[in-house]
Amino acid sequence: MTAKTFTQPTFTSQIVNGLLSIKPLANFAKSRARSMMIERAERLGVPWRKRFQEYQQIDWAPYLSTVQNLQLPYPDYYLRAFHAYENGNLSWDAAWEVESAAYSVHSGIWKDANPQGDAKLRQSYHAVMLDKMATPPQRILDLGCSVGMSSFALQDTYPHAEITGVDLSPYFLAVAQYNSQQRPKAIAWKHAPAEATGLESASFDLVSACLMFHELPATIACQIFTEAQRLLSPGGYFTLMDMNPQSEIYEKMPPYILTLLKSTEPYLDQYFSLDIAAILSELGFRNITITPNSPRHRTIVAQK
Ligand SMILES: C[S@@+](CC[C@H](N)C(=O)[O-])C[C@H]1O[C@@H](n2cnc3c(N)ncnc32)[C@H](O)[C@@H]1O
Repeated sequence: MTAKTFTQPTFTSQIVNGLLSIKPLANFAKSRARSMMIERAERLGVPWRKRFQEYQQIDWAPYLSTVQNLQLPYPDYYLRAFHAYENGNLSWDAAWEVESAAYSVHSGIWKDANPQGDAKLRQSYHAVMLDKMATPPQRILDLGCSVGMSSFALQDTYPHAEITGVDLSPYFLAVAQYNSQQRPKAIAWKHAPAEATGLESASFDLVSACLMFHELPATIACQIFTEAQRLLSPGGYFTLMDMNPQSEIYEKMPPYILTLLKSTEPYLDQYFSLDIAAILSELGFRNITITPNSPRHRTIVAQK
């Protein structure tokens, strides 16, 4: 990685970071961000608390034991508090709430906020993929698959493909396993870090990472690009969809809202400062494109 692949955080970002280094302020921001999300979800008809209670009633032990690798060590960056959860993604609370959170957060992307924003966001990502990729992929890897929302969306777009989902949270994968019982075709879930999946080289036509990179330190992001390159067969595609740092929405975001956002996303600055196209190009990827697919998201496509 060269110096040109990074930019400095803005002045506003530096002030916000200063505020968030004050623990009581950070805690207040986190709890405010969380209650705003729940209120918005329930106003829109997403039954956040009801769904949580339903999930609480399920016996999760069989689902967890199917997906969990008990020997897996967790990297330090993954053990930080995230999204207002003290244990980050390593908790049942996070696993039972992440779908509702996605509906809530994505409901406001387009005008006339509604819970269909999440489905529309995923469709807009796949529309770019369909446009840029010459042939439909047969073997797809979904990095950071969480509870399966992105894997299921990929399966709806490519119903004949064999799909594998990788995630570091066994709780999320257990929910993915539970939810995939309703799906037409099985998905292989793998509990592993995206930067060292342990999967066979050149075994995928498409490696997709949906909404994962904003959760990663820059060094890990770079390791994942290298791992994706290893996993792709020649001519295969790496695609990622995530927040668009060039979007006016982030550039003009009021500091108060930015503070709430950053209080729950510890690596956001690192993601925003990474020049992903330059890194992919240095690694030898070609046909690299960056396409805005929502008012605040972008899709990057690169071919091995
Ligand atoms: C915001 S969620 C996105 C989930 C999903 N792809 C979607 O579109 O809804 C990011 C996911 O990446 C996972 N994750 C973060 N770092 C990871 C890593 N190094 N390896 C594997 N998964 C990781 C988290 O556990 C979480 O499930």
